[in-house]
This record gives sequence, C-alpha cells and structure tokens, in this order.
Amino acid sequence: MEIRKNVEDDGVIFMSVKEKSEADHADAGDVTILAIESSCDETAAAVVRNGREVMSNIISSQIALHTIYGGVVPEIASRKHVEKINGCIRAALSEAKLTLSDIDAVAVTYGPGLVGALLVGVSEAKAIAFATGKPLIGVHHIEGHISANFIENKDLKPPFICLVVSGGHSHLVVVRDYGEYEIIGQTRDDAAGEAFDKVARAIGLGYPGGPKIDKAAREGNPDAYTFPQAKIPDAEYDFSFSGLKSAVLNLINQAKMQGIELNQADIAASFQRAVVEVLAGHAVKACREYGFDSLAIAGGVASNSALRELCEKECAKNGIRFFRPSPVLCTDNAAMIGAAAYYEYKKGVRFGLDMNAMPNLPLGDRERRFHAGQR
Ligand code: KG4
Ligand code: ZN
Repeated sequence: MEIRKNVEDDGVIFMSVKEKSEADHADAGDVTILAIESSCDETAAAVVRNGREVMSNIISSQIALHTIYGGVVPEIASRKHVEKINGCIRAALSEAKLTLSDIDAVAVTYGPGLVGALLVGVSEAKAIAFATGKPLIGVHHIEGHISANFIENKDLKPPFICLVVSGGHSHLVVVRDYGEYEIIGQTRDDAAGEAFDKVARAIGLGYPGGPKIDKAAREGNPDAYTFPQAKIPDAEYDFSFSGLKSAVLNLINQAKMQGIELNQADIAASFQRAVVEVLAGHAVKACREYGFDSLAIAGGVASNSALRELCEKECAKNGIRFFRPSPVLCTDNAAMIGAAAYYEYKKGVRFGLDMNAMPNLPLGDRERRFHAGQR
C-alpha cells in the first residue's frame, strides 16, 4: 500500500493512500462504491471495489488545526469538512481513474459522530445520489471500523470477535455475519481513546494523546507504577477507564504536592500497559468462552503498538487467528466505509434522500435503517 502525506498551507494534512488495483478494468459483476466519511475530524473519500479492493483512499486530517485547542472543536470541524470534501472526492475519483458515471453506489457515514460534521458528508452523498441517480447507502461508523479488517485480510469472514476501540467507543462485538452484530461488552464511562487523550493531556504530552503515549511509552518502564484494571461484577466483558484515569491524576497531584518529579515516559508506559492488558484480556477471554477462533481489532486505538503486540502474543498462545488493519486503516478513513457498504449493497439496502445524520446511532439496530428512511 502506497502512502503519500503532504502538509498544506493551513497545516491540514492531506494523506493519499492507494492500494494497487489487482485488475485495472472492472468485470460486469463488480460493485464500485464511492464512500465518504466526515463524522469527526477527518474528511475522507475513497473508491472501493467489491468491498475489499481499495482503488483510492484520500484522508484530509484536521489534527493540526485542533491541536491548538487540545481537542476537536465541532464547529471548526464542520467548516473544514465543507472546505475539503469536494477536493477529497475529486482526488478519490481521479486516483481510481474513474468518474461518477463508473460508480455503482454512494456510501456515507450517517452516525454516530458530531452532528454538524456528519451532516456535511450526508448532504454531499445525498446531492451526488440525487444528481447521478445512483443508490445511496448509509453506514454506521463503527461498522466501518470493523469492516476495515476485510480490506487487507481477504480470507477474514464472519463469524469472529472484534474489539472496537476508538476515541468515542470501546466495544467487544460478536460479528455474526456481515452487518450482523451482537455487543457483548462496552465501556461504562470513558472510551479507551478518550482515556489515552485525557491522560496524555494530564502528563503534558498534548493532543492527540494516543499516538503520543504510544511513542513516549517506548522509552518508559511499564512496571514503574501499578494502576488499577477495573473489573465489573456481573459484566465480565465491560470496560471502565475512569478509575484508571483518576489514579493517574492522583499520582500527578500527590507528586506535585510533595515536590517529586515524575517520569513522563514511565507513566505513559504504565498507563498504556493497564489499558492494553484489560482490552486484550477481555477480547481473548471472549474468543475462548464463546468458542471463536478469530479475533479482529478496529478503531484508532487498534493502531497502538502495545495492544497489537499483546493481542498477537495472546492469540498465538491460545490458537486464535489475529487480524488487524494497517494503522492508516484503523483511524478514520472512507475505505472502511466503502468496505462495509458493499455488504449492505449486496443485501439490497438502499437509503432514501431523507437520510439524516444520526449522532447517537446504535450499532446492530436493524430498525435504524427504517429511521434513516430506507427505501
Ligand atoms: O477511530 P478514530 O480515528 O476516531 C474515532 O472514531 O473516535 O480514533 C481516534 C482515537 C483517539 O482517541 C486517539 O488518541 C486514538 O484513537 N489513537 C490511539 C493511537 N492512535 C490513535 N490510541 C492509542 N495508541 C495509538 N497509537
Ligand atoms: Zn472512528
């Protein structure tokens, strides 16, 4: 997979990721989907053939813009999506060497996410569908993250267990079939990525926290501090990260009061260890107890190097096949939306032009399509 990265004048990073196409010309039965993602701070467009072949994957990241505020500012995100979305779509089509008339359907993330941000992608997708007469498919953002695993793992097929860990979600999901999910565990408070972001801010690493903790932890000692790993009675697959975050904050406050200097890398490594041990522990236990032989991970936190290593090791020990997308497909992108949309398309799912952004869209709720105006 080829990755290009340019920083534009306003600091916005424009990444272009292209997987070389196996076949240059489409067969009659091929399904080519133009996918759009704008649920948070990445404006993205991709062209995906048959759910697994990425013909283009354009990501315009706003991270540099939001860094000065220490987190995503929804109003700024929406405005930036409006500025960038047409350019991303044009670039995605041009890298795929296609025009809108070659596309079989338009897919878009319609929830969950920031409502103003989602609306930009949804409005764009509806406008393209209306103008071209092509089918419109709404995709659940988390369904997209899970489906990122299909892109590079051509032999991965449901059923399997997926650990979805992002800035807004921490879910342990049984993927029964394409588009069929059962949530067996979720966070009771902060999402894993949120915990990374909050702890990074507290120890002075800044935003975005996940990648910075990942990097700092490489220089630190994971045994330096023992942080709590919450277990929830009667809900063994649920997560809780707020106690862990408070333990880090308490340590910092006590050290300040006592005039003790703490080692930033040691805190990062010890915190990261506590998070990834719980995540990998729950995921592997679920595979064993539910009798699944495959585990996949997804979402921004799935790009964490310690989580990838621990899952790899634990899966190997327990005879479980381990799947994870490349880091660029773990964080928000539109290729994953195109992958998820393909399986919806094959099932005949079509949305109407009354599709709306749904900021709190639940995963695995079949009714959601009705609410979104499926035709
Ligand atoms: O999936 P994503 O791009 O957006 C959401 O849907 O939320 O995930 C973003 C989250 C952020 O909280 C970010 O800090 C975290 O993923 N993240 C990481 C790493 N890279 C991104 N967390 C830990 N280690 C990383 N390497
Ligand atoms: Zn995401």
